[in-house]
Amino acid sequence: MTLAAASGFRRLFGNDPTGVWAAPGRVNLIGEHTDYNEGVVLPFAIAERTEAAIASRQDGHIRMCSLQHPGEIVELKVRSLSPGLPRGWAAYVAGVAWAMECEEGFDLAIDGSVPLGSGLSSSAALTCSVGLGLNDLFGFGMTHRQIARAAQAAENDYVGAPTGGMDQIASLLCRSGHALLYDVRADTTEQVPFAPEAAGLSVLVVDSMIRHGHASGEYQSRRQDCEESARRLSVRSLRGVTVADLPIALEQLGDERLVKRTRHVVTENQRVLDIAAALARDDWERVGRLLTEAHESYRDDFAASCPEVDVAVEALLEAGALGARLTGGGFGGAAIALIGTDDIDDARSAVDAAYDERNYQPASMFTVMPSAGAQRIA
Ligand code: GLA
Repeated sequence: MTLAAASGFRRLFGNDPTGVWAAPGRVNLIGEHTDYNEGVVLPFAIAERTEAAIASRQDGHIRMCSLQHPGEIVELKVRSLSPGLPRGWAAYVAGVAWAMECEEGFDLAIDGSVPLGSGLSSSAALTCSVGLGLNDLFGFGMTHRQIARAAQAAENDYVGAPTGGMDQIASLLCRSGHALLYDVRADTTEQVPFAPEAAGLSVLVVDSMIRHGHASGEYQSRRQDCEESARRLSVRSLRGVTVADLPIALEQLGDERLVKRTRHVVTENQRVLDIAAALARDDWERVGRLLTEAHESYRDDFAASCPEVDVAVEALLEAGALGARLTGGGFGGAAIALIGTDDIDDARSAVDAAYDERNYQPASMFTVMPSAGAQRIA
């Protein structure tokens, strides 16, 4: 996969970039809507990524272009950065410069291969490639964790998407051949070896092509449900409730919707830890079962799935996947399956047939490998 941020930069701005920085999207293996509840998550970086080619400017102007939006150059002054301006993809770049309190201008060209709106975190790939680049270029001396926080602030406070911090941490800290166990409350990370290919398995992504928008609506309302549940249970966040506490806590909530949301978050935290333990034992059958249980919880209790993803999960399981689930923020996007590498062709045909039967637009399917986190590439 060759991306073209550097050549796009040269073509558009007429000079060389000072450097090129790349940051990956991620698959969240498990741990959905647990991050903003101070819980645990287990994402891994994928090879699909965003590249940012950048050079500084002396006149305090920012000029940005994206190879995914040909012909458009967005220009503004670094001193006029303010949440809400500009809109669209450029807000993610401007938001990072704002969160890092940039005082100098720059030219920037981006190119990306993470499918947009599929739940594979194209936004973190964008903000983290830009954050890593600006940090190097202007010598801010920030650690990867600090860059992750700035990237998250760009999304939360500049773009206005109320997401948690998993995606940015994953994009910056993941390592090839590993998933990253991130405990938000403790603010600790652990590299968990994750090599399904050694067991003859693959992770197949089935992108339903149904698009979500995290800046609006459902994501936010799930977050509010979780906050309301924590308030009623007198805990700082739902991380303060364990599976053992659950029966009493659910009784105390006295609201069917909050019961379901809480049950998802609390059991999901436990499944994350259980999958990490199963991976350590190479118990792939158990990993698969937990993935499917997580899907049921995400679909039924958290009500964050959609028919197209549910149909994909079902077809994948029928085609012999060890487990399958909706990954990412929900309300569309992609399913992942842990599946025998030899069964991939059958699984693809099964999904195609199920989609065709229902007149859904065809899904996009590809395998992913646990890949490296963000880095300077030129
Ligand atoms: C999106 C958000 C993350 C996380 C997931 C759900 O990807 O950006 O912070 O909340 O949804 O697990």
